[in-house]
Amino acid sequence: MQILRTCAEMRDFSRANPSRTGFVPTMGYLHEGHGTLIQQARAENDRVVVSIFVNPAQFNDPADFEKYPIDLDRDFDMLRRGGVDAVFCPRTSEVYPAGVPTLKLRYDDLMSELCGRYRHGHFEGVLLIVHNLLLWVNPSRAYFGLKDFQQYVLVKHMVRDLSLTVEIVGCEIIRESDGLAMSSRNVRLSAEGRAKASGIYQALIRARDAYRRGLDPVSVRGELLAALVGFDMEYGEVVDVDTLRQPEEFEREFGAYRAAVACYIDGVRLIDNILFES
Ligand code: PAF
Repeated sequence: MQILRTCAEMRDFSRANPSRTGFVPTMGYLHEGHGTLIQQARAENDRVVVSIFVNPAQFNDPADFEKYPIDLDRDFDMLRRGGVDAVFCPRTSEVYPAGVPTLKLRYDDLMSELCGRYRHGHFEGVLLIVHNLLLWVNPSRAYFGLKDFQQYVLVKHMVRDLSLTVEIVGCEIIRESDGLAMSSRNVRLSAEGRAKASGIYQALIRARDAYRRGLDPVSVRGELLAALVGFDMEYGEVVDVDTLRQPEEFEREFGAYRAAVACYIDGVRLIDNILFES
């Protein structure tokens, strides 16, 4: 596995390896969820590139950035075992040589919903880094976990609107045995917080069951929030997957919806969501 530290090295690698590359962008502290994205990328492409970069531009809370777990040696071991061809792990000064740019890639509508309503500037930071990573890595396909569903939707819009030639692949959420969505942040939970966190998935299932029983959007959201009483909530929403807004009514034959949650446990921000299949 090649370890690439500069954007020039990354570009040279892409030019020297023009066949189909699958790309998995990450912020490191890898877990099984990332492992699944890497496996899928390996199965569908000739080579796999993973990036590890904790992007300061997407942290609206400096304390969250400071506490973000980092263990590159552990990550490199996992990537070697996963058969990754190259890992791109640039320094911040390499990515932002003139400091974090003030350039904003922004969707006013989609970024005003869900996480975007609370994490000001977060998605602008995400789109900028994803855009630049796609230019440096030049992959055929890039893989994103659907736990960050809003991120996936925004990246797809950006790729379409800027005519980037990459296919964005959304990959199912990987869960612990009690249903908690895997996240690099889970290591910061206390034992008690970790036990409570499994309630998020239970609440999402309760909302999906309510949808399946034929309840309307307001009532389904009511079920979701009722299951999360006692949680330090940021939001609990039931949204159309295209607009990210709560629909007036469910269009059960053709529509697709998700219940989505963001809450804090032990001061750790956790997000999760579930698809309501038609
Ligand atoms: O999902 C993440 O880990 C990050 O937002 C990403 C896509 C690597 C951009 O920094």
